[in-house]
Amino acid sequence: MLVLDFGGQYSQLIARRVREARVYSELVSHRATAAEIARRNPAALILSGGPASVYADGAPRIDPAIFDLGIPTLGICYGMQLMALELGGTVNRTGTAEFGKADLEAGESALFEGLPSAQTVWMSHRDSVTAPPTGARVVGRSPSTPIAAFEDAARKLYGIQFHPEVVHTPHGQEVLKNFLYSVAGASPIWTPAAVIEEQVERIRAQVGSGRVLCGLSGGVDSAVAALIVHKAIGDQLTCVFVDHGFMRKDEAEQVVETFGGHFHVPLVHVRAQERFLTKLAGISEPEEKRMRIGEEFIRVFEEEARKLGEVDWLVQGTLYSDVIESGGEDGVAETIKSHHNVGGLPADMELKLVEPLRHLFKDEVRRVGEELGMPERLVWRQPFPGPGLAIRIIGDVTAERLETLREADAVLQDEVRKAGLYRELWQSFCVLPAIRSVGVQGDSRTYGYPIVIRAVTSDDAMTADWARLPYDLVEQVASRIVNEIEAVNRVVLDVTSKPPATIEWE
Ligand code: XMP
Repeated sequence: MLVLDFGGQYSQLIARRVREARVYSELVSHRATAAEIARRNPAALILSGGPASVYADGAPRIDPAIFDLGIPTLGICYGMQLMALELGGTVNRTGTAEFGKADLEAGESALFEGLPSAQTVWMSHRDSVTAPPTGARVVGRSPSTPIAAFEDAARKLYGIQFHPEVVHTPHGQEVLKNFLYSVAGASPIWTPAAVIEEQVERIRAQVGSGRVLCGLSGGVDSAVAALIVHKAIGDQLTCVFVDHGFMRKDEAEQVVETFGGHFHVPLVHVRAQERFLTKLAGISEPEEKRMRIGEEFIRVFEEEARKLGEVDWLVQGTLYSDVIESGGEDGVAETIKSHHNVGGLPADMELKLVEPLRHLFKDEVRRVGEELGMPERLVWRQPFPGPGLAIRIIGDVTAERLETLREADAVLQDEVRKAGLYRELWQSFCVLPAIRSVGVQGDSRTYGYPIVIRAVTSDDAMTADWARLPYDLVEQVASRIVNEIEAVNRVVLDVTSKPPATIEWE
Protein backbone atom coordinates (compact mmCIF):
# COMPACT_ATOMS: atom_id res chain seq x y z
CA MET A 1 0.00 0.00 0.00
CA LEU A 2 1.22 3.50 -0.74
CA VAL A 3 1.11 6.65 1.38
CA LEU A 4 1.04 9.77 -0.78
CA ASP A 5 3.03 12.33 1.16
CA PHE A 6 1.63 15.87 1.20
CA GLY A 7 4.29 17.06 3.61
CA GLY A 8 2.52 16.34 6.88
CA GLN A 9 4.60 15.80 10.00
CA TYR A 10 2.98 12.39 10.47
CA SER A 11 3.43 10.94 6.97
CA GLN A 12 6.19 8.55 8.03
CA LEU A 13 4.18 7.58 11.06
CA ILE A 14 1.23 6.59 8.84
CA ALA A 15 3.52 4.27 6.86
CA ARG A 16 4.79 2.76 10.10
CA ARG A 17 1.32 2.24 11.53
CA VAL A 18 0.24 0.45 8.36
CA ARG A 19 3.25 -1.80 8.67
CA GLU A 20 2.38 -2.44 12.31
CA ALA A 21 -0.89 -3.77 10.90
CA ARG A 22 1.38 -6.12 8.91
CA VAL A 23 0.64 -4.59 5.55
CA TYR A 24 3.71 -3.44 3.63
CA SER A 25 3.64 0.29 2.94
CA GLU A 26 5.83 2.85 1.29
CA LEU A 27 5.86 6.60 1.22
CA VAL A 28 5.71 8.23 -2.22
CA SER A 29 5.70 11.84 -3.30
CA HIS A 30 2.36 13.53 -3.91
CA ARG A 31 3.72 14.30 -7.39
CA ALA A 32 3.31 10.66 -8.40
CA THR A 33 1.08 10.44 -11.47
CA ALA A 34 -1.87 8.11 -11.93
CA ALA A 35 0.20 6.08 -14.40
CA GLU A 36 3.03 5.69 -11.86
CA ILE A 37 0.61 4.67 -9.14
CA ALA A 38 -1.12 2.20 -11.45
CA ARG A 39 2.24 0.63 -12.28
CA ARG A 40 2.89 -0.01 -8.58
CA ASN A 41 -0.52 -1.68 -8.35
CA PRO A 42 -1.07 -0.97 -4.63
CA ALA A 43 -3.88 -2.55 -2.63
CA ALA A 44 -4.75 0.86 -1.23
CA LEU A 45 -3.73 4.48 -1.05
CA ILE A 46 -3.59 6.82 1.90
CA LEU A 47 -3.34 10.55 1.29
CA SER A 48 -1.42 12.07 4.18
CA GLY A 49 -1.97 15.31 6.03
CA GLY A 50 -0.03 18.41 5.13
CA PRO A 51 0.63 21.89 6.47
CA ALA A 52 -0.92 23.87 3.61
CA SER A 53 -4.42 25.07 2.92
CA VAL A 54 -5.78 23.40 -0.21
CA TYR A 55 -6.43 26.88 -1.61
CA ALA A 56 -2.96 28.28 -0.89
CA ASP A 57 -0.67 29.19 -3.78
CA GLY A 58 1.62 26.28 -4.51
CA ALA A 59 -0.31 23.93 -2.20
CA PRO A 60 0.51 20.32 -3.13
CA ARG A 61 -2.16 18.80 -5.35
CA ILE A 62 -2.89 15.31 -6.56
CA ASP A 63 -3.23 13.95 -10.06
CA PRO A 64 -7.05 13.65 -10.08
CA ALA A 65 -6.88 10.68 -12.45
CA ILE A 66 -5.66 8.70 -9.41
CA PHE A 67 -9.25 8.64 -8.15
CA ASP A 68 -10.36 6.87 -11.34
CA LEU A 69 -7.96 3.95 -10.84
CA GLY A 70 -10.44 2.13 -8.63
CA ILE A 71 -7.90 1.85 -5.79
CA PRO A 72 -9.41 2.07 -2.28
CA THR A 73 -8.30 5.46 -0.94
CA LEU A 74 -8.29 7.02 2.51
CA GLY A 75 -7.63 10.74 2.84
CA ILE A 76 -6.39 11.97 6.21
CA CYS A 77 -6.74 15.66 7.19
CA TYR A 78 -5.28 17.58 4.23
CA GLY A 79 -5.68 14.41 2.16
CA MET A 80 -9.38 14.35 3.01
CA GLN A 81 -9.79 17.99 2.06
CA LEU A 82 -8.03 17.40 -1.23
CA MET A 83 -10.45 14.56 -1.99
CA ALA A 84 -13.38 16.84 -1.29
CA LEU A 85 -11.95 19.54 -3.50
CA GLU A 86 -11.17 17.24 -6.43
CA LEU A 87 -14.32 15.14 -6.26
CA GLY A 88 -17.07 17.73 -6.21
CA GLY A 89 -17.19 18.71 -2.54
CA THR A 90 -16.09 21.96 -0.89
CA VAL A 91 -13.51 23.05 1.65
CA ASN A 92 -13.63 26.29 3.63
CA ARG A 93 -11.91 28.12 6.38
CA THR A 94 -14.89 27.98 8.69
CA GLY A 95 -13.26 29.98 11.46
CA THR A 96 -13.24 27.08 13.87
CA ALA A 97 -9.76 25.66 13.89
CA GLU A 98 -9.32 22.50 15.92
CA PHE A 99 -6.05 21.48 17.53
CA GLY A 100 -5.94 18.62 19.99
CA LYS A 101 -8.44 16.16 21.32
CA ALA A 102 -11.97 16.20 19.94
CA ASP A 103 -15.10 14.11 20.47
CA LEU A 104 -16.00 12.19 17.37
CA GLU A 105 -19.49 10.90 16.80
CA ALA A 106 -18.83 8.00 14.46
CA GLY A 107 -21.68 6.85 12.21
CA GLU A 108 -22.30 3.69 10.18
CA SER A 109 -19.17 3.08 8.14
CA ALA A 110 -16.78 0.28 7.33
CA LEU A 111 -14.10 2.48 8.93
CA PHE A 112 -15.78 2.43 12.33
CA GLU A 113 -17.00 -1.16 12.36
CA GLY A 114 -16.75 -2.67 15.81
CA LEU A 115 -15.79 0.65 17.39
CA PRO A 116 -17.76 2.81 19.83
CA SER A 117 -19.80 5.58 18.25
CA ALA A 118 -18.37 8.12 20.72
CA GLN A 119 -14.58 8.27 20.47
CA THR A 120 -11.75 10.64 21.21
CA VAL A 121 -9.72 11.66 18.19
CA TRP A 122 -6.82 13.99 17.51
CA MET A 123 -7.45 16.94 15.21
CA SER A 124 -5.10 19.51 13.77
CA HIS A 125 -6.68 21.71 11.10
CA ARG A 126 -7.88 25.18 10.20
CA ASP A 127 -9.85 24.40 7.03
CA SER A 128 -12.80 22.02 7.05
CA VAL A 129 -14.73 20.05 4.48
CA THR A 130 -18.10 21.80 4.10
CA ALA A 131 -19.57 19.46 1.50
CA PRO A 132 -18.43 15.87 0.90
CA PRO A 133 -17.48 14.62 -2.56
CA THR A 134 -20.37 13.93 -4.93
CA GLY A 135 -21.86 10.58 -4.02
CA ALA A 136 -20.20 10.41 -0.59
CA ARG A 137 -22.07 10.55 2.70
CA VAL A 138 -21.01 12.02 6.00
CA VAL A 139 -20.18 9.32 8.54
CA GLY A 140 -18.55 11.25 11.37
CA ARG A 141 -18.89 14.62 13.05
CA SER A 142 -17.37 16.49 15.97
CA PRO A 143 -18.80 19.51 17.78
CA SER A 144 -16.80 21.96 15.69
CA THR A 145 -16.38 19.87 12.52
CA PRO A 146 -19.72 18.74 11.10
CA ILE A 147 -17.96 16.72 8.39
CA ALA A 148 -15.21 14.84 10.22
CA ALA A 149 -15.52 11.69 8.10
CA PHE A 150 -17.10 10.72 4.79
CA GLU A 151 -17.36 7.58 2.73
CA ASP A 152 -18.25 6.62 -0.78
CA ALA A 153 -18.49 2.88 -0.28
CA ALA A 154 -19.21 2.15 -3.93
CA ARG A 155 -15.97 3.83 -5.09
CA LYS A 156 -14.12 2.89 -1.88
CA LEU A 157 -13.19 6.48 -1.19
CA TYR A 158 -12.93 7.53 2.44
CA GLY A 159 -11.92 10.72 4.20
CA ILE A 160 -11.25 11.51 7.85
CA GLN A 161 -10.36 14.87 9.31
CA PHE A 162 -8.69 13.40 12.40
CA HIS A 163 -5.31 11.66 12.64
CA PRO A 164 -5.70 7.91 13.22
CA GLU A 165 -1.93 7.42 13.26
CA VAL A 166 -1.16 9.29 16.50
CA VAL A 167 -1.48 7.73 19.94
CA HIS A 168 -3.88 10.48 21.00
CA THR A 169 -6.51 8.80 18.82
CA PRO A 170 -7.05 5.66 20.92
CA HIS A 171 -9.00 3.75 18.24
CA GLY A 172 -6.90 5.10 15.38
CA GLN A 173 -5.05 1.87 14.66
CA GLU A 174 -8.36 0.01 14.47
CA VAL A 175 -9.71 2.59 12.01
CA LEU A 176 -6.63 2.00 9.86
CA LYS A 177 -7.04 -1.76 10.13
CA ASN A 178 -10.69 -1.51 9.12
CA PHE A 179 -9.64 0.43 6.07
CA LEU A 180 -6.82 -1.93 5.19
CA TYR A 181 -8.51 -5.26 5.86
CA SER A 182 -12.23 -4.66 5.29
CA VAL A 183 -12.24 -1.91 2.69
CA ALA A 184 -9.05 -2.67 0.77
CA GLY A 185 -9.03 -6.42 1.35
CA ALA A 186 -5.35 -6.39 2.33
CA SER A 187 -4.07 -9.31 4.43
CA PRO A 188 -1.82 -8.96 7.45
CA ILE A 189 1.01 -11.00 6.00
CA TRP A 190 3.96 -8.65 6.20
CA THR A 191 5.95 -10.20 9.05
CA PRO A 192 9.66 -10.33 9.89
CA ALA A 193 9.72 -13.88 8.49
CA ALA A 194 8.18 -12.65 5.23
CA VAL A 195 10.71 -9.81 5.02
CA ILE A 196 13.59 -12.26 5.39
CA GLU A 197 12.18 -14.62 2.80
CA GLU A 198 11.63 -11.84 0.29
CA GLN A 199 15.10 -10.37 0.83
CA VAL A 200 16.77 -13.75 0.59
CA GLU A 201 15.22 -14.31 -2.83
CA ARG A 202 16.01 -10.81 -3.98
CA ILE A 203 19.65 -11.01 -2.86
CA ARG A 204 20.14 -14.37 -4.56
CA ALA A 205 18.77 -13.00 -7.80
CA GLN A 206 20.81 -9.80 -7.44
CA VAL A 207 24.28 -11.15 -6.69
CA GLY A 208 24.16 -14.50 -8.46
CA SER A 209 27.49 -16.18 -7.87
CA GLY A 210 29.28 -12.89 -7.06
CA ARG A 211 31.40 -12.40 -3.98
CA VAL A 212 30.06 -10.09 -1.30
CA LEU A 213 31.81 -8.07 1.37
CA CYS A 214 30.24 -6.64 4.53
CA GLY A 215 31.77 -4.33 7.11
CA LEU A 216 30.54 -5.09 10.61
CA SER A 217 30.44 -2.24 13.10
CA GLY A 218 29.08 -4.05 16.13
CA GLY A 219 25.80 -2.18 15.72
CA VAL A 220 22.47 -3.76 14.99
CA ASP A 221 22.05 -2.53 11.38
CA SER A 222 25.21 -3.98 9.90
CA ALA A 223 24.69 -7.16 11.93
CA VAL A 224 21.17 -7.77 10.64
CA ALA A 225 22.16 -6.86 7.10
CA ALA A 226 25.05 -9.33 7.24
CA LEU A 227 22.89 -12.14 8.59
CA ILE A 228 20.21 -11.74 5.93
CA VAL A 229 22.84 -11.78 3.21
CA HIS A 230 24.50 -14.80 4.77
CA LYS A 231 21.19 -16.61 4.87
CA ALA A 232 20.79 -15.88 1.18
CA ILE A 233 24.22 -16.74 -0.18
CA GLY A 234 26.18 -18.42 2.62
CA ASP A 235 29.92 -18.41 2.19
CA GLN A 236 29.89 -16.10 -0.82
CA LEU A 237 29.78 -13.47 1.93
CA THR A 238 32.80 -12.41 3.93
CA CYS A 239 32.43 -10.02 6.85
CA VAL A 240 35.23 -7.72 7.87
CA PHE A 241 35.13 -6.43 11.39
CA VAL A 242 37.58 -3.59 11.85
CA ASP A 243 38.08 -3.46 15.59
CA HIS A 244 39.39 0.04 16.23
CA GLY A 245 39.65 -0.65 19.93
CA PHE A 246 37.10 2.02 20.87
CA MET A 247 34.21 -0.31 21.52
CA ARG A 248 32.70 -1.00 24.89
CA LYS A 249 33.84 -3.76 27.15
CA ASP A 250 33.27 -7.23 25.66
CA GLU A 251 31.48 -5.89 22.58
CA ALA A 252 34.15 -6.87 20.09
CA GLU A 253 34.22 -10.39 21.54
CA GLN A 254 30.43 -10.58 21.26
CA VAL A 255 30.56 -9.71 17.57
CA VAL A 256 33.22 -12.33 16.92
CA GLU A 257 31.40 -14.94 18.99
CA THR A 258 28.04 -14.23 17.36
CA PHE A 259 29.20 -14.16 13.76
CA GLY A 260 32.20 -16.42 13.65
CA GLY A 261 31.11 -18.76 16.43
CA HIS A 262 27.33 -19.00 16.42
CA PHE A 263 26.30 -18.21 12.86
CA HIS A 264 29.46 -19.49 11.13
CA VAL A 265 29.71 -16.40 8.95
CA PRO A 266 33.16 -16.14 7.32
CA LEU A 267 34.66 -13.36 9.42
CA VAL A 268 37.89 -11.41 9.30
CA HIS A 269 38.54 -9.80 12.67
CA VAL A 270 41.11 -7.04 12.35
CA ARG A 271 42.55 -5.98 15.68
CA ALA A 272 43.71 -2.49 14.83
CA GLN A 273 43.75 -0.61 18.13
CA GLU A 274 47.45 0.16 17.92
CA ARG A 275 47.07 1.71 14.49
CA PHE A 276 44.16 3.86 15.56
CA LEU A 277 45.84 4.98 18.77
CA THR A 278 48.91 6.00 16.80
CA LYS A 279 46.74 8.07 14.45
CA LEU A 280 45.09 9.79 17.41
CA ALA A 281 48.24 10.52 19.40
CA GLY A 282 48.15 14.10 20.64
CA ILE A 283 44.81 14.85 18.96
CA SER A 284 42.11 16.34 21.16
CA GLU A 285 39.94 18.28 18.70
CA PRO A 286 36.68 16.29 18.22
CA GLU A 287 36.26 16.70 14.47
CA GLU A 288 39.93 15.96 13.87
CA LYS A 289 39.48 12.74 15.85
CA ARG A 290 36.44 11.77 13.80
CA MET A 291 38.21 12.50 10.55
CA ARG A 292 41.30 10.52 11.44
CA ILE A 293 39.28 7.56 12.66
CA GLY A 294 37.13 7.62 9.52
CA GLU A 295 40.16 7.75 7.24
CA GLU A 296 42.02 5.03 9.05
CA PHE A 297 38.91 2.92 9.06
CA ILE A 298 38.63 3.03 5.30
CA ARG A 299 42.32 2.31 4.91
CA VAL A 300 42.19 -0.79 7.11
CA PHE A 301 38.97 -1.97 5.53
CA GLU A 302 40.41 -1.51 2.07
CA GLU A 303 43.58 -3.42 2.92
CA GLU A 304 41.54 -6.34 4.19
CA ALA A 305 39.18 -6.23 1.24
CA ARG A 306 42.10 -6.39 -1.19
CA LYS A 307 43.43 -9.45 0.56
CA LEU A 308 40.19 -11.22 -0.27
CA GLY A 309 40.80 -10.94 -3.99
CA GLU A 310 37.95 -10.38 -6.39
CA VAL A 311 34.86 -8.92 -4.67
CA ASP A 312 31.79 -7.67 -6.54
CA TRP A 313 29.34 -6.42 -3.97
CA LEU A 314 29.32 -4.48 -0.73
CA VAL A 315 26.57 -4.82 1.89
CA GLN A 316 25.31 -1.50 3.18
CA GLY A 317 22.94 -1.15 6.14
CA THR A 318 20.95 1.74 4.68
CA LEU A 319 17.57 2.11 6.41
CA TYR A 320 14.27 3.33 4.99
CA SER A 321 14.52 6.51 7.06
CA ASP A 322 17.84 7.27 5.28
CA VAL A 323 16.15 6.68 1.94
CA ILE A 324 13.31 9.05 2.82
CA GLU A 325 15.69 11.67 4.21
CA SER A 326 17.74 11.67 1.06
CA GLY A 327 14.63 12.41 -0.98
CA GLY A 328 12.93 9.08 -1.50
CA GLU A 329 13.51 6.17 -3.81
CA ASP A 330 14.26 8.21 -6.88
CA GLY A 331 17.86 9.05 -7.48
CA VAL A 332 19.28 7.65 -4.27
CA ALA A 333 19.25 4.00 -5.18
CA GLU A 334 22.96 3.66 -5.58
CA THR A 335 24.35 6.41 -3.41
CA ILE A 336 26.27 5.67 -0.28
CA LYS A 337 25.55 7.44 2.94
CA SER A 338 28.48 9.73 3.48
CA HIS A 339 27.94 9.86 7.22
CA HIS A 340 28.12 6.11 7.49
CA ASN A 341 31.21 5.61 9.59
CA VAL A 342 31.65 1.97 8.92
CA GLY A 343 32.17 0.06 5.75
CA GLY A 344 33.02 3.23 3.89
CA LEU A 345 33.68 2.38 0.30
CA PRO A 346 37.12 3.11 -1.13
CA ALA A 347 36.47 5.18 -4.24
CA ASP A 348 38.47 3.02 -6.63
CA MET A 349 36.96 -0.31 -5.64
CA GLU A 350 33.69 0.24 -7.47
CA LEU A 351 31.61 -2.32 -5.69
CA LYS A 352 27.91 -2.61 -6.32
CA LEU A 353 25.62 -2.29 -3.31
CA VAL A 354 23.43 -4.83 -1.58
CA GLU A 355 21.01 -3.08 0.76
CA PRO A 356 18.76 -5.57 2.53
CA LEU A 357 17.40 -3.03 5.05
CA ARG A 358 16.50 -0.35 2.55
CA HIS A 359 12.77 -0.77 3.13
CA LEU A 360 12.87 -1.16 6.90
CA PHE A 361 12.46 1.22 9.80
CA LYS A 362 14.79 0.78 12.77
CA ASP A 363 12.27 -1.06 14.95
CA GLU A 364 11.59 -3.44 12.05
CA VAL A 365 15.32 -4.13 11.72
CA ARG A 366 15.30 -5.21 15.36
CA ARG A 367 12.33 -7.52 14.84
CA VAL A 368 14.02 -9.06 11.81
CA GLY A 369 17.16 -9.51 13.93
CA GLU A 370 15.16 -11.35 16.56
CA GLU A 371 13.57 -13.53 13.89
CA LEU A 372 17.06 -14.40 12.62
CA GLY A 373 17.97 -15.55 16.11
CA MET A 374 20.39 -12.78 16.94
CA PRO A 375 21.21 -12.50 20.66
CA GLU A 376 19.04 -10.06 22.59
CA ARG A 377 22.09 -8.01 23.59
CA LEU A 378 23.00 -7.31 20.01
CA VAL A 379 19.46 -6.70 18.78
CA TRP A 380 18.60 -4.19 21.47
CA ARG A 381 21.94 -2.43 21.67
CA GLN A 382 21.62 1.30 22.25
CA PRO A 383 22.96 3.55 19.50
CA PHE A 384 26.73 3.85 19.67
CA PRO A 385 28.77 6.35 17.68
CA GLY A 386 31.10 4.99 15.02
CA PRO A 387 34.20 6.61 16.59
CA GLY A 388 33.16 4.98 19.87
CA LEU A 389 34.91 5.71 23.14
CA ALA A 390 37.44 7.92 21.36
CA ILE A 391 34.91 10.77 21.38
CA ARG A 392 33.95 10.07 24.97
CA ILE A 393 37.43 10.86 26.19
CA ILE A 394 37.58 14.62 26.26
CA GLY A 395 41.21 15.28 25.40
CA ASP A 396 43.89 12.98 24.00
CA VAL A 397 42.99 9.34 23.64
CA THR A 398 45.48 7.03 25.33
CA ALA A 399 45.36 3.31 26.05
CA GLU A 400 45.25 4.02 29.78
CA ARG A 401 42.32 6.44 29.51
CA LEU A 402 40.48 4.06 27.21
CA GLU A 403 40.84 1.28 29.71
CA THR A 404 39.60 3.51 32.55
CA LEU A 405 36.58 4.67 30.57
CA ARG A 406 35.78 1.17 29.35
CA GLU A 407 35.73 -0.18 32.89
CA ALA A 408 33.62 2.68 34.24
CA ASP A 409 31.20 2.34 31.35
CA ALA A 410 30.88 -1.39 31.98
CA VAL A 411 29.84 -0.67 35.59
CA LEU A 412 27.16 1.76 34.39
CA GLN A 413 25.84 -0.70 31.76
CA ASP A 414 25.76 -3.48 34.29
CA GLU A 415 23.78 -1.46 36.84
CA VAL A 416 21.42 0.04 34.25
CA ARG A 417 20.61 -3.43 32.96
CA LYS A 418 20.15 -4.78 36.47
CA ALA A 419 17.72 -1.94 37.17
CA GLY A 420 15.77 -2.96 34.04
CA LEU A 421 16.27 0.45 32.44
CA TYR A 422 18.51 -0.37 29.49
CA ARG A 423 15.78 -0.43 26.84
CA GLU A 424 13.95 2.56 28.27
CA LEU A 425 16.98 4.78 27.82
CA TRP A 426 17.92 6.02 24.39
CA GLN A 427 21.54 6.00 25.45
CA SER A 428 23.42 5.59 28.71
CA PHE A 429 27.18 5.91 28.87
CA CYS A 430 30.19 7.35 30.65
CA VAL A 431 32.43 10.19 29.58
CA LEU A 432 35.97 10.74 30.74
CA PRO A 433 37.06 14.38 30.71
CA ALA A 434 40.83 14.22 30.87
CA ILE A 435 41.23 16.53 33.83
CA ARG A 436 42.13 15.59 37.36
CA SER A 437 40.67 16.59 40.66
CA VAL A 438 41.70 16.09 44.24
CA GLY A 439 40.21 13.38 46.39
CA VAL A 440 40.94 11.46 49.52
CA GLN A 441 40.91 7.71 49.84
CA GLY A 442 42.01 5.97 53.01
CA ASP A 443 44.54 8.29 54.53
CA SER A 444 45.95 9.61 51.35
CA ARG A 445 45.23 12.34 48.92
CA THR A 446 44.40 11.27 45.37
CA TYR A 447 44.57 13.12 42.12
CA GLY A 448 42.32 11.26 39.71
CA TYR A 449 39.95 11.45 36.77
CA PRO A 450 36.28 12.30 37.08
CA ILE A 451 33.72 10.13 35.28
CA VAL A 452 30.54 11.69 33.93
CA ILE A 453 27.35 9.66 33.80
CA ARG A 454 25.27 10.60 30.77
CA ALA A 455 21.85 9.01 30.27
CA VAL A 456 19.12 10.37 28.03
CA THR A 457 15.66 9.57 26.79
CA SER A 458 14.81 10.41 23.20
CA ASP A 459 12.84 9.27 20.18
CA ASP A 460 15.24 10.18 17.43
CA ALA A 461 18.37 11.82 18.94
CA MET A 462 17.33 15.19 17.48
CA THR A 463 16.20 16.26 20.91
CA ALA A 464 16.78 14.46 24.19
CA ASP A 465 15.96 14.80 27.83
CA TRP A 466 18.33 13.84 30.62
CA ALA A 467 17.06 10.67 32.20
CA ARG A 468 15.86 10.87 35.79
CA LEU A 469 17.83 7.84 36.95
CA PRO A 470 16.84 6.65 40.42
CA TYR A 471 19.20 8.06 43.08
CA ASP A 472 19.87 4.57 44.40
CA LEU A 473 21.11 3.54 40.99
CA VAL A 474 23.29 6.65 40.65
CA GLU A 475 24.74 6.00 44.08
CA GLN A 476 25.47 2.37 43.32
CA VAL A 477 27.17 3.25 40.03
CA ALA A 478 29.21 6.05 41.59
CA SER A 479 30.34 3.96 44.51
CA ARG A 480 31.30 0.99 42.35
CA ILE A 481 33.22 3.16 39.89
CA VAL A 482 35.36 4.89 42.52
CA ASN A 483 35.93 1.66 44.40
CA GLU A 484 36.69 -0.56 41.44
CA ILE A 485 38.67 1.81 39.24
CA GLU A 486 41.76 3.24 40.79
CA ALA A 487 42.27 6.08 38.34
CA VAL A 488 38.84 7.58 39.15
CA ASN A 489 38.07 9.50 42.34
CA ARG A 490 34.89 11.39 41.43
CA VAL A 491 31.64 10.71 39.58
CA VAL A 492 29.29 13.41 38.30
CA LEU A 493 25.89 13.30 36.63
CA ASP A 494 25.07 15.25 33.48
CA VAL A 495 21.64 16.87 33.91
CA THR A 496 21.47 18.77 30.62
CA SER A 497 18.97 18.18 27.86
CA LYS A 498 19.50 18.52 24.12
CA PRO A 499 19.30 21.33 23.21
CA PRO A 500 21.26 23.17 24.53
CA ALA A 501 23.77 20.35 25.06
CA THR A 502 24.33 17.49 22.61
CA ILE A 503 23.99 13.89 23.70
CA GLU A 504 27.69 13.17 23.28
CA TRP A 505 30.30 15.43 24.84
CA GLU A 506 32.25 15.75 21.62
P1 XMP B 1 24.71 14.36 19.49
O1 XMP B 1 25.89 14.23 20.36
O2 XMP B 1 24.96 15.17 18.26
O3 XMP B 1 24.39 12.89 18.97
O4 XMP B 1 23.48 14.83 20.22
C1 XMP B 1 23.23 12.49 18.32
C2 XMP B 1 23.32 11.01 18.07
O5 XMP B 1 24.35 10.74 17.13
C3 XMP B 1 25.33 9.89 17.71
N1 XMP B 1 26.64 10.36 17.23
C4 XMP B 1 27.37 9.75 16.30
N2 XMP B 1 27.16 8.62 15.61
N3 XMP B 1 29.22 8.91 14.52
C5 XMP B 1 28.08 8.19 14.72
O6 XMP B 1 27.91 7.15 14.10
C6 XMP B 1 29.51 10.05 15.16
O7 XMP B 1 30.56 10.67 14.94
C7 XMP B 1 28.53 10.50 16.10
N4 XMP B 1 28.44 11.57 16.92
C8 XMP B 1 27.29 11.45 17.60
C9 XMP B 1 25.16 10.02 19.20
O8 XMP B 1 25.64 8.87 19.89
C10 XMP B 1 23.67 10.22 19.32
O9 XMP B 1 22.97 8.99 19.26
